[in-house]
Amino acid sequence: MLTQLQIHNVRNLEQVTLQGLARINIFFGANGSGKTSILEAVHMLGMAKSFRPGATRTLVTHGRQDCTVYGVAAEGGTRSRIPVAVRRSMAGEVQIKLGGQVVRSVAELVEQLPLQVLNAASFELLTGSPAARRQFLNWGVFHVEHRFFAEWQRFQRCLKQRNKLLRHGKLDHSELTVWTRELADSGDRIHEFRLQYFEMLAPSFRAIMSRLAPSLQELELRYRKGWEKSLSYREALEAGLPADVEQGYTHIGPQRADLKVTSSGYSAAETLSRGQQKLVVCGLKLAQGRLIAGPRQGSCVYLVDDLPAELDQRHCALVCEALAELESQVFITCVAKTDLEAMWPPGTKPALFHVEQGSLSEALGGEPAALPG
Ligand SMILES: Nc1ncnc2c1ncn2[C@@H]1O[C@H](COP(=O)(O)OP(=O)(O)O)[C@@H](O)[C@H]1O
Ligand SMILES: [Mg+2]
Repeated sequence: MLTQLQIHNVRNLEQVTLQGLARINIFFGANGSGKTSILEAVHMLGMAKSFRPGATRTLVTHGRQDCTVYGVAAEGGTRSRIPVAVRRSMAGEVQIKLGGQVVRSVAELVEQLPLQVLNAASFELLTGSPAARRQFLNWGVFHVEHRFFAEWQRFQRCLKQRNKLLRHGKLDHSELTVWTRELADSGDRIHEFRLQYFEMLAPSFRAIMSRLAPSLQELELRYRKGWEKSLSYREALEAGLPADVEQGYTHIGPQRADLKVTSSGYSAAETLSRGQQKLVVCGLKLAQGRLIAGPRQGSCVYLVDDLPAELDQRHCALVCEALAELESQVFITCVAKTDLEAMWPPGTKPALFHVEQGSLSEALGGEPAALPG
C-alpha cells in the first residue's frame, strides 16, 4: 500500500504532496481540476507510463521537460517501507528506482506495485478487440505464475522467427520444422498457464457478479485458447501449415486467444446496457484483484476513475463494498464529495481529498494532507 506520494509535473499537477494515504482514498472536484491526473500519476508509478495508450508525452506538464512521481510503498504486515520513483522525460527516457536502486525492467516495478484501472477505457475489455482481453488475462497470469513472463518472451521470439521464415518465399523446411516445434512447445505451456489461471478466475468472477448484479443470472465467462479446442498446439500448427505458408504468417495460437462474456447465451458486449457492462468490467477486475491478493504477491492498487458515471447509487455502493472487502488500496474519483462518501461498509474510513486546479486539500479532519507547492 502506498503511504505517501509526491507528484511533480504530471499534467496539471506541478507540485503535489500527499501524505497519510488511507486504504480508500476519494478524490473529488470539478471537471478539469486534476482528479484523473492523480490516477495517472499513480499509474506512472506502477507501470512507468500513462494509462492512455500512446499518451505518455502528454503526461508531462506543458512547457516542462520531465515529470516525476515518488511514492513510499509499505509492505503489508511488515514495517518495511520501499521508496519507488519513476521519472519520464519528453525525450522518452524513463528512470525507475526501487528501494533506492535503479532498475532496468518495468516488470520489476509492475511486480512491486500491481495496478488495476477502472475508467471509461475499461469498457474496451468487453467491447474492444481481443487484444485487450489477452492483455487482461496475461496480467493476471503474470502476477500468479512466476514462470509465465519468461515463457511469454520465449513464445514471442519463436513466433517472430517462424513468421520471418514464412514471409520469405523460399522456405527452408528443416528450419521451419525446428521453429514450429519450439513454438508448439512454448504455446502449449502458455495455454496451460492461462488455463490454470482461468479456472480460478471464472468462479471468482461468478461469485462477485452474483453480488454486483444478481439480476444478470446466466452470466458466463469463457476462455478460447486460440486454436481448435480438441488439438494440441503442435497438431493444430501441422494442420494449419498450408494456410500459414500461403499467407506468410502463423494464423493460430495463444496470440489469438480470447475471453468471452455471455449473458443468457448472448454476447455481453452486444446485449447489456452501458451500466451493466460497467458492472461486468468491475466484476472482471475485482475477480482478478482477489486472485492476486496473497501473502506472496501482496495486493493490488485500484485506480477507479469516476465510478458513479453510468451507475445508479445502489450499484455504485455494491462496487464500493466489493472494493472495500479486497485487501487493496483504492484511489477513486468523483465530482461531488457526497457521490462516494457514504458508499462504504461500516468501519471503513475513507480519506477524502478535494482537488482544485491542480492542488489538493484533505477534506475531513486531521492535518492538511497536502500543500500546493
Ligand atoms: N500536459 C498537460 N499540461 C498541463 N495541463 C494539462 C496537461 N494535460 C492535461 N492538462 C489539464 O489538466 C487539467 C486536469 O485534467 P484531469 O485530471 O483530466 O481533470 P479531471 O479532474 O476532470 O479528471 C485539465 O484542465 C487538462 O486540460
Ligand atoms: Mg477525469
